[in-house]
Amino acid sequence: MIKKFYPSSLYNFLRLIQTNPVNKKILDCGAGGRDPKLAFFHENGFETYGIDISDEQINDAQNFCEKNSINLRITKGDMKNIPFDSNFFGYVFSYLSMVHLSKKDTAIAINEMHRVLMKGGLCYLNFLSKDDVNFDEKRESDPGEIISFHENQEYVHSYYEDDKPDDYFKNFEIIYKEKRHILNGKYFNTGRTCILDYILKK
Ligand SMILES: C[S@@+](CC[C@H](N)C(=O)[O-])C[C@H]1O[C@@H](n2cnc3c(N)ncnc32)[C@H](O)[C@@H]1O
Repeated sequence: MIKKFYPSSLYNFLRLIQTNPVNKKILDCGAGGRDPKLAFFHENGFETYGIDISDEQINDAQNFCEKNSINLRITKGDMKNIPFDSNFFGYVFSYLSMVHLSKKDTAIAINEMHRVLMKGGLCYLNFLSKDDVNFDEKRESDPGEIISFHENQEYVHSYYEDDKPDDYFKNFEIIYKEKRHILNGKYFNTGRTCILDYILKK
């Protein structure tokens, strides 16, 4: 296994799920890419599952798995319609993936995550803050939503005021909340990234 560092918020989530044992099954929504976050939970003894909507991203994660001789169980799926039974997972998370959903679709995805999470299970989600360097009011299509294009493909980014994501969590208990400014991170080398982290209990 390639030894590497992971985002600080994942260590925080790990600390909480290790002290709140429900079961060992963990789901990542938007799990693809060259740097699958599930590897961190695999290394720490969890039974990992992931879904991603993009074949290319799944392929990149598959290459990582082959190189490191591990199976993270990442398959094709849409977090707005999660292909697993209700109450199946002890833990669910999404790392900078839900940020690509419109606000309407984010509500649908969070309901799905709630459905597949068992009672007492924990969920880690993050959102882009309106204090993020890439938020620009002048480019909003809908409130807090910005459309951009990459290689002819359309992408949405959703941005939030500090407490706004709370509105999604009527069925959860919010047990941890943090606002993080990242000065030099992997995703954005254009300046100051700002993320709102949530840990939720069903
Ligand atoms: C910025 S990448 C982050 C990937 C990964 N979580 C990481 O931290 O490296 C966003 C990921 O979300 C996936 N994604 C976007 N919409 C999705 C959806 N509705 N269901 C599942 N995955 C989705 C994309 O295909 C992409 O792999």
